[in-house]
Amino acid sequence: MSLAGLLEEVRARPLPQHVAIIMDGNGRWAKARGLPRTEGHRRGADTVERIARFVAKEKLFPYLTVFAFSTENWDRPKNELDFLFSLLEEFARTRWEELRKNGVQLRILGDPSPFPKSLREALDHAVAQTAGGQNLVFTVALNFGGRWDVLSAARRAMELARSGKLAPEELSLEKFRELLPGGALPDPDLIIRTGGHQRLSNFFLFEAAYTEFYFTKTLWPDFTEEELLLALKDFQGRTRNFGKVRA
Ligand code: IPE
Ligand code: IPE
Ligand code: MG
Repeated sequence: MSLAGLLEEVRARPLPQHVAIIMDGNGRWAKARGLPRTEGHRRGADTVERIARFVAKEKLFPYLTVFAFSTENWDRPKNELDFLFSLLEEFARTRWEELRKNGVQLRILGDPSPFPKSLREALDHAVAQTAGGQNLVFTVALNFGGRWDVLSAARRAMELARSGKLAPEELSLEKFRELLPGGALPDPDLIIRTGGHQRLSNFFLFEAAYTEFYFTKTLWPDFTEEELLLALKDFQGRTRNFGKVRA
C-alpha cells in the first residue's frame, strides 16, 4: 500500500497520544556495511529528524519521545561517546530552525549535567528556540534511565517531606507520578523498539505500566515513515483492557 493510503487508513481510527521509540541498531547497521559504528549513529540522526518532521507535518500524534542515550551508555568506548556528543551538538545547532518551522517543540528528558558544556548550551538554545512549537512535543531522552526517573521522584518526595510540605500518607500514585521527570508527559501508549531486541533497556518503567509494545528487526537507520504507520496500524488493532473486563 502507498504511504498516502496507509496514512488515510491510520487516520480513520483512534491514534495514540504519546509514542516513544527505542532507537536501536545503529552499530549493527554500520557493521553490516563495513563502516565504523559512528557512521551508523550519523545515519540514525538523519532518521530521527525525518521521523519527527513527518509526525509534526502530518500531526499524527502530539507527543513523540526518542531514547537517544541511556544512563548505561556511558560504558561505551570514549571515541564513540565523543562522537555521539558532537553529533548531538551538531543536531541541536543545525536543525532547530527546521524543527521550529515544522512546529516542533524540542524537550530534553534526563540529567544533562555530565555532558560537555558546549553540548548543554546547544541543547538549551534549541529547546528555547522551539518552545512555541504547537504541532509536536518532541522529547529526546538523554542520559535518561527508568530507574533514575523513579529515584529522582523518590528524592523529590523526601525533600518535600523534610521541608514539611508532604506527609508520607499524602504521597499518592498521582502525586508520585507528578514528581517523576518523565511524568511531565502523558504515559506512552506505544513503545517501538527497532534493532530486534525485545527488552526495555531501562527506558520508561513507571510510565510504561500499560504501554503497548512494537518490536521490529529493522535497524534504526533503515526505519521509515511507512513502518511507523504500520506500527500505528498494529497498535490500533489491539485491545487495551487496563485490567478491566471489556464492556
Ligand atoms: C542505538 O544503537 C543508539 C544508542 C544507544 C546511542 P546502538 O549503538 O546500540 O546499535 P547496536 O545495538 O550496537 O547495533
Ligand atoms: C537502548 O539501546 C538505549 C538507546 C537506544 C538509547 P542499547 O543498545 O543501549 O540497549 P542494550 O544494551 O542492547 O540493552
Ligand atoms: Mg544497541
